[in-house]
Amino acid sequence: MSVHLQRHQAAVVLLLLAFLPSGLTIPDPRQREALMQLEASMQTGGQTVLTDAELQLDTLLFKMKQEEMLRADFPPAMHFFKARHLIRTSPIFSLLQKMPKGGALHVHDFSMVDVEWLVKNATYRPHCYMCLTDNQSIRFIFSSRRPRPLSHCSPWNLLETVRAKMVNTTELDNSIMANLTLFTHQDPATVYPSQDVVWDRFEQIFLALWGLVTYAPVFRDYYYQGLTEIYTDNAMYLELRALLPEIYELDGSTHDTAWTLKTYQEVTRQFRADHPDFFGARIIFTVHRGVNISVMTDAVEEAMKLRRDFPEFLAGFDLVGREDKGRPLWYFRDALSLPVERGVTLPFFFHAGETDLEGTEVDQNLLDALLLNTSRIGHGFALLRHPVARDLSRKKGVAVEVCPISNQVLKLINDMRNHPAAALMSENHPVVISSDDPAIFGASGLSYDFYEAFVGFGGLRPHIAFLKEIAVNSIRYSSLAPKQQEEALALWQKKWDKFVSEITQ
Ligand SMILES: *[C@@H]1O[C@H](CO)[C@@H](O)[C@H](O)[C@H]1NC(C)=O
Ligand SMILES: *[C@@H]1O[C@H](CO)[C@@H](O)[C@H](O)[C@H]1NC(C)=O
Ligand SMILES: *[C@@H]1O[C@H](CO)[C@@H](O)[C@H](O)[C@H]1NC(C)=O
Ligand SMILES: *[C@@H]1O[C@H](CO)[C@@H](O)[C@H](O)[C@H]1NC(C)=O
Ligand SMILES: *[C@@H]1O[C@H](CO)[C@@H](O)[C@H](O)[C@H]1NC(C)=O
Ligand SMILES: *[C@@H]1O[C@H](CO)[C@@H](O)[C@H](O)[C@H]1NC(C)=O
Ligand SMILES: [Zn+2]
Repeated sequence: MSVHLQRHQAAVVLLLLAFLPSGLTIPDPRQREALMQLEASMQTGGQTVLTDAELQLDTLLFKMKQEEMLRADFPPAMHFFKARHLIRTSPIFSLLQKMPKGGALHVHDFSMVDVEWLVKNATYRPHCYMCLTDNQSIRFIFSSRRPRPLSHCSPWNLLETVRAKMVNTTELDNSIMANLTLFTHQDPATVYPSQDVVWDRFEQIFLALWGLVTYAPVFRDYYYQGLTEIYTDNAMYLELRALLPEIYELDGSTHDTAWTLKTYQEVTRQFRADHPDFFGARIIFTVHRGVNISVMTDAVEEAMKLRRDFPEFLAGFDLVGREDKGRPLWYFRDALSLPVERGVTLPFFFHAGETDLEGTEVDQNLLDALLLNTSRIGHGFALLRHPVARDLSRKKGVAVEVCPISNQVLKLINDMRNHPAAALMSENHPVVISSDDPAIFGASGLSYDFYEAFVGFGGLRPHIAFLKEIAVNSIRYSSLAPKQQEEALALWQKKWDKFVSEITQ
């Protein structure tokens, strides 16, 4: 319907152009108005019809945005690490925190929870050992006995004993925290001068987190806490990209992939029971793109099996890790074609185009993702440079999962106002906003990324209709079946109406 309207409006403009007398020195204001309206109607939210209360909120937001743009330090023009404390004082940010944002569709398993919780909760549990690697990074393990030494790491120290000998543990706790996040109060440009440096640190963080979060009791509580952070930020649904690793117990015994998935499902059920207005969560099984073909083939087999055993809970499959260093999708084409060959449904949610390496093999991932029938595109940062992929994504309704803060911290963009999603949203390309690895970037939930999208690449113009449409998109482009989407939308609408009436009163 929106395409129809736009065509109709385009026709009006053409008519206007045709009937205007030629040779005018000053352009006709009516023509100008028509062109402006046409563009406004094409952007995200441009076709949304607003209620009276929403219009009232719209006026309020417009004023807030004008004031925000007058701030001496405009947060979206700065690195997020420097902007965060400014964003926290922004009235728009506090409004976005209250806003029901729908679903978080692009979040990874081990970056859901604020690192302070990990340090204050996980590392304070009994039997927690830590060692220091040759590279000054840390590793953890929980064990009932003294664990065997790890190569390239100092002897294991029981944290309980280490802390007992200290008068003040603040410094130790802060240094552990600093190992588990990229966030820093130093100058980010100096600490992370290149993509290689920031990705190396990123990978060290995952290794440091590993022994903490794959310990069964922590694993459960970590996920519950992750859901809490999303729920507290007023999102109601999650699609979590999860590696489903082996989870271990204190005696060193381990659980398999199916156990891990089942545990996610049980904790999700528990969370829903405790918070009935939370809609739920689904898992996208992920595998590192650095693996070889036989490992990938096994992973796809495993994914098909899990999908059969957990059809309601396992949403699909994806590859993770740095695209520029990993293998391209095309390399795995045989493994990734197995489901179609066997007539088995395994939806894909590929990361693609998280790169600025134009013209490389990795840069082909966008087209290959679409060829492989991906349901959504993770990041799609390079989409503007692929007109065919862009067109296909639009026509097939393959939404792009835009994660602004991630793109900035991982050094694809400096100033949010120049983010390529601005162009996509100016023509209402299917887009959702998400947070990727919020804890590692020093963010949480969705609000910080909504802020960057709304204030940064949204510009002055878009207001409430823009926000409404991206929230609705997160349900419309979710992996939920049509009937579940309707239920989720109804729940969201109730929250939205309450939000609008509370703000405008
Ligand atoms: C960690 O959090 C869990 C779940 O909220 C709680 O039961 C436990 O007592 C906490 N442990 C510590 C050491 O803070
Ligand atoms: C230490 O850093 C070097 C250089 O970045 C890297 O090649 C090596 O794998 C790292 N070692 C460990 C144990 O992470
Ligand atoms: C512990 O040390 C930190 C600084 O390292 C300091 O800010 C804090 O006040 C100290 N706490 C106590 C209880 O002395
Ligand atoms: C990680 O922790 C170790 C030990 O506490 C510390 O020496 C090191 O500086 C920390 N690394 C970072 C990046 O903060
Ligand atoms: C693929 O990788 C796995 C795990 O690293 C290894 O065990 C296996 O030998 C590799 N297979 C081939 C064919 O290289
Ligand atoms: C493409 O994916 C959708 C959604 O998972 C599925 O319904 C459809 O059958 C798939 N088509 C092909 C050709 O694989
Ligand atoms: Zn990601």
